[in-house]
Parts: sequence; C-alpha cells; structure tokens
Amino acid sequence: MTDWSKLPKTELHLHLEGAAQPDFIRMLAAEKSVDLSGVFDADGAYKWTDFAEFLKTYEAACEVLKSPEDFRRLTEAVLAKSAADGVVYTEIFIAPDICGAGDAVAWREYLDALFQAARNAEAAHGIAARFISTCIRNHGAEAAENAARLTAGAAGGLLTGFGMGGEERNGSAQDFVKAFAIAAEAGLGITSHAGELCGASSVTETLDHLPVSRIGHGVRAIEDPALVERLAEEGIVLEVNPGSNIALSVFEDWTAHPVKHLRDAGVPVTISTDDPPYFHTDLPREYEMLAQTFGWHSEDFLAMNLTAAHAAFCDEQTRSTMITRLTGA
Ligand code: ADE
Ligand code: ZN
Repeated sequence: MTDWSKLPKTELHLHLEGAAQPDFIRMLAAEKSVDLSGVFDADGAYKWTDFAEFLKTYEAACEVLKSPEDFRRLTEAVLAKSAADGVVYTEIFIAPDICGAGDAVAWREYLDALFQAARNAEAAHGIAARFISTCIRNHGAEAAENAARLTAGAAGGLLTGFGMGGEERNGSAQDFVKAFAIAAEAGLGITSHAGELCGASSVTETLDHLPVSRIGHGVRAIEDPALVERLAEEGIVLEVNPGSNIALSVFEDWTAHPVKHLRDAGVPVTISTDDPPYFHTDLPREYEMLAQTFGWHSEDFLAMNLTAAHAAFCDEQTRSTMITRLTGA
C-alpha cells in the first residue's frame, strides 16, 4: 500500500467545522460543560444515518464552537492534520452564519482569529490556507445576501472566495442570484455545492444563474451527458469528494462513483474530503481508494492537483509556489 501522505496535495473543498475531529469537539464540550451525548455513537464517532441527520449532528457539534478563540484552536488543529496528510495548500469553507451568527462586528473578530491560525499553521507546518465564506442554503436568500455582504466587506488577504453549502433540496439556485452577484462584484472566487443530493438539473441551474468557476461535488452531472460535455467545454472545475458521496449513499460504492467517467470525459476534476471525520476518511485514504478502484497512479494525482492549483482562489505568487511544491521542481 502506498503512503499517500507523502505526496504533495492541494485541497479545495473542506468545511472547517466538518473537519473537527470528535476528540476536539469532546474536549471543548468538557471545558464548557456542554452535554453532547446525542452527537456521538458508542465508538465515539459522529452519529448520523442520512444527509438530514448529518446536518443536524454537524450543527449540534457546532454548539461548543462559540468564541473566536475556539475557532483559532480548531483551525490550527485542522491545518496541522492537513499538513501531516501532505496538503501544501488548502481552501477552507467558513460561514458568517456560524462565525458570529451573521453579526458584522463579531464576524471581523472571527476572521482575525482564523487568519491568525492560518499564519501560525503556515509558520509551523508550511501549509498555505485561504478561506471561502459560505452562505447556508437552508437559511434562505436573505441570510445568504447578508453573508455575501459580510464576505464582500472583508474580501482580500486570506478571504478569497464565496460559496454555498447546506441542504441542497431547499430552494433553487435562482433564489441566490443577488447574494452571488454581491460576492462576485467584490472580486471573490465563486463556487457552489450542487449535484450532490440533487440531480444533474441542480448543476445546470447553478451554471445558468450563478457566476461559478467551480462546483462543490457536481458529480450527479453524470446523469446528463450534455451537461458533462458542457462542464468539459466551459472548464468548470469539480471539487469531488468521493468518500463523502459514498458515506452519504449518493453512490453505492467506490466502483459506482463517476469520478473516472467525468475525468475521462474531459471535466476538470479535483479531489477533496468535505467533512473527513464524519465520513471516516482523510485525503491519503481517498487517494488510496481511488488508486485501488481506478488504477490511478501518482501522475494521475499530480495532474488533478495541478488542475486544483489552477482553479485555486489565490494570488499568482501563491499559485506559483504551490505548483513548485506539487511538482517537486
Ligand atoms: N455542509 C457541510 N458538508 C456539506 C455537504 N457535504 N453538502 C452540503 N453542505 C455541507
Ligand atoms: Zn461540502
């Protein structure tokens, strides 16, 4: 078995709270005397059965993440793990609705803590990080517009993207046109979750109405051959999270996952982990499973990492350093 942690990697799709290890959440719960008994199973792992319950557990675990200092500690722990897994550059999803409950003053305090954590992690482990601020689809269009305004007001530096996560079966892409226009106007990179829980039409709607250069997941585009062609032609980059999809039963198993078909059809594909401890995975395990399932080698992963480098929401100096590290040049 190859030790994939040694291979330099770029990760584009990682939710900050979703990357919190259960032990970290339990530590904060103990410090704050919060009862989180419903959140974990008998083995101490996060407990959920389907996507709706996954989101509920996710939100319940977030209950112990209260202060900017909690988020600084979380971010440093997440980045240390990513660096140990070989990640040289990562983009992390955060949410103004969680970091300060949508309040403008609090949001800035959380951002300061997150940026401090990223600087500390870069100094300690050499990993570069950027943040993508997201609206949460099931919080509705108004909350999304507020999140976009908060993000636009703080754009620049380490805050380089805007996106949307949450319950995909709520509302349509069209409801979020204004929020995304605010973010795009501020020069932020744009991505949105689609084609994960909902079918190909959710990806088409996203492409038709939102100014995205990337799609989070997008894998159910496979259901519509014309859409697969469109993704390839327009060079829309997919942030694919195979282990997440399998854990959430979007596909039955690794052999049924369409990532190879999408890549073979010329769609720019990248590999990430989404919410790794929830799905009992990490990036080296994803690589190992892809290598075993599809016969992919280091050259395939290098190609996908270079795709990710070119799609990253960062300045050209950071991109060039990243490419040098990926290629070992
Ligand atoms: N938030 C955290 N993980 C998510 C996922 N896989 N899909 C949508 N929203 C999310
Ligand atoms: Zn996600």
